[in-house]
Amino acid sequence: MLGRALRWIRAKVVQKAERLLLRILAAGPIPKHVAFVMDGNRRYARSHQQPINQGHSEGFVALRRMLEACMRLEIRCVSAYAFAMDNFKRSPEEIEHLMDLAHDKLMEMSRHGQILEEYGVRLNVLGKTALLPERVQEVIRHVESITRNNNKAILNICIAYSSQDEITTAVNSAVRLSLDKEKSNPDNREITEHDIDAQLFTSLAGSPPLDILVRTSGVKRLSDFLLWQSSENTQIHFSKAYWPEFGLWDFVPIILDYQRKAWSQRVL
Ligand code: FPP
Ligand code: MG
Repeated sequence: MLGRALRWIRAKVVQKAERLLLRILAAGPIPKHVAFVMDGNRRYARSHQQPINQGHSEGFVALRRMLEACMRLEIRCVSAYAFAMDNFKRSPEEIEHLMDLAHDKLMEMSRHGQILEEYGVRLNVLGKTALLPERVQEVIRHVESITRNNNKAILNICIAYSSQDEITTAVNSAVRLSLDKEKSNPDNREITEHDIDAQLFTSLAGSPPLDILVRTSGVKRLSDFLLWQSSENTQIHFSKAYWPEFGLWDFVPIILDYQRKAWSQRVL
């Protein structure tokens, strides 16, 4: 009994300290858009002698934890790579679990009083959603529609996503729009970077330019995620932590690094 009470008091003290830290950090320059490549779920599970599906479930807990931290820091937009196009090559059992997880957690997040409502977050699912099972597409339509008018923050969950597919789709849309425009103004033929940028899934979802991209698990690759968006000013960080164990204490140095660079640019 006493042990449980002490653990409860300890958890409350840690929570208060973390919230105070986030309030202090939020007083400095804050990135507008942060993206996460959530890698290492299966290695985390194996290292804890758990089934790999447990690693993915704990990966969702980490996503929720980081979303809460980002919202408290008043980061306007968070993008997360939840299922790459390449992940369709995994075993049917693993894909089935990931689809069930996406279905259940998207539903859960959208409920009254949950995180999307609490922080006024509009949720967008970016990717070739037509490739997903109908039950997942249905919940995506539901969550997107009930959060459409939330305007404080944006959460982009990338599912059945690849950057090359996003860029190809954007180029095709830009060409189509340009052909329409050409009918009214035949001299206006050229497609610019701005035209393509405007048609990216992230731009159509209202996302600001990408400031920070974090990849966990010690792997140094971008894995076809937000390649166009990772431009000149994007700061890329590789963390050794497996995604399910990635937490505030891994994220704070990344935010401090962003603030240090922002301040030094202001001074120069
Ligand atoms: C990469 O680790 C992770 C994934 C393929 C799935 C990520 C999904 C979540 C964190 C939960 C998704 C949440 C929603 C709302 C859909 P890995 O499987 O490549 O692990 P490994 O690198 O150790 O093999
Ligand atoms: Mg991996």
